[in-house]
Amino acid sequence: MLRTMLANVSAALAVVMVVVSPASAQTDPALLARGDYLVNVIGACGNCHTPREKGQPDLTKQLSGGFQTFDEPWFRVKGANLTPDPETGLGRWSDAEIKSALLEGKRPNGTPIAPIMPFPLYRSMTPRDLDAIVAYLRSVPAIKNQVQAPEYRKEAFNVPYPDAIRQATDEELKQPVKRGAYLAALGHCMACHARRSVDAPPDFKGSWGAGGREFVSPAGKVTAANISSHKEKGLGAWTDAEIKRSLTEGVSRDGRRLKPPMLEYAGYWKSLMPEDLDALVAWLRSIPPIE
Ligand code: HEC
Ligand code: HEC
Repeated sequence: MLRTMLANVSAALAVVMVVVSPASAQTDPALLARGDYLVNVIGACGNCHTPREKGQPDLTKQLSGGFQTFDEPWFRVKGANLTPDPETGLGRWSDAEIKSALLEGKRPNGTPIAPIMPFPLYRSMTPRDLDAIVAYLRSVPAIKNQVQAPEYRKEAFNVPYPDAIRQATDEELKQPVKRGAYLAALGHCMACHARRSVDAPPDFKGSWGAGGREFVSPAGKVTAANISSHKEKGLGAWTDAEIKRSLTEGVSRDGRRLKPPMLEYAGYWKSLMPEDLDALVAWLRSIPPIE
């Protein structure tokens, strides 16, 4: 009897503690640092979720909603407000609900999230990395910003990604090629570097790394490059240093400045850890040559 009473009291205290202490104060700093790295470096979430000021990400409004509108035959959407604001951000979402958005592309109210958000590639995330992202998102300043509501033009999206992507293990992340593949999924390289057309989803069968997605921006029209190990058409003849420079500085092999959107990602990937850059190179070299 006394035991149950004590258990009830401590359960009640636990509830109170969870409610009153901000998430950041009780979160392990290593987990937060990992979340910061996943969100702000390899994941480049801000590239779609942070507003811009004069062409640059406005870090005073970090993660409070994207600057661009993705207008596709299936949907017209903007990057959501990921800050802890209860009305316009993720403040009222549970950890499990945030993870379900990241892994399954579903919101708490059941509506699907347009697959321009690369959630199908995020299915590879380890449980610790999912926890890290959630912890980090809860630690950023809450900003009230009502993002324009999504418009869905077809009932079901053709989620254009391979089903084979499954959750990675910490053991696999110690092997350079697998670690590189994992980072590439978070960096969603194949959302752009696989063949696709405006009204068709990417074709991953035989085009993994072939490039081909087109982008039009004020900088002009640009096609995502072939990043397979093909000697002439891909990265086969590039040195490791040249590949790393393209990712971290947005410069091609011949010194040409890469165009957006690739250029913008360099602003995030310039902070990649050396072992992660090595792993990405190892993975890129493992992609069979494609014409
Ligand atoms: C290529 C652009 C892009 C990238 C990169 C991206 N997102 Fe998104 N995300 C979107 C868009 C667009 C939406 C809204 C889609 C819609 O309304 O159907 C979205 C929606 C979400 C949602 C659902 C929120 C809501 O209120 O509906 C979450 C959570 C989310 N993203 C988290 C992340 C995280 C965390 C990262 C980085 C690991 C990330 N996103 C990277 C484009 C992106
Ligand atoms: C949002 C789309 C997008 C994403 C995501 C993306 N890229 Fe790119 N990438 C491009 C485009 C477009 C170009 C071509 C830019 C140009 O030619 O100016 C490019 C160019 C490159 C180049 C230079 C190739 C050359 O011949 O100059 C490399 C290397 C590269 N990407 C690797 C990657 C890797 C690795 C990832 C993931 C970690 C990635 N990209 C993610 C769109 C993207």
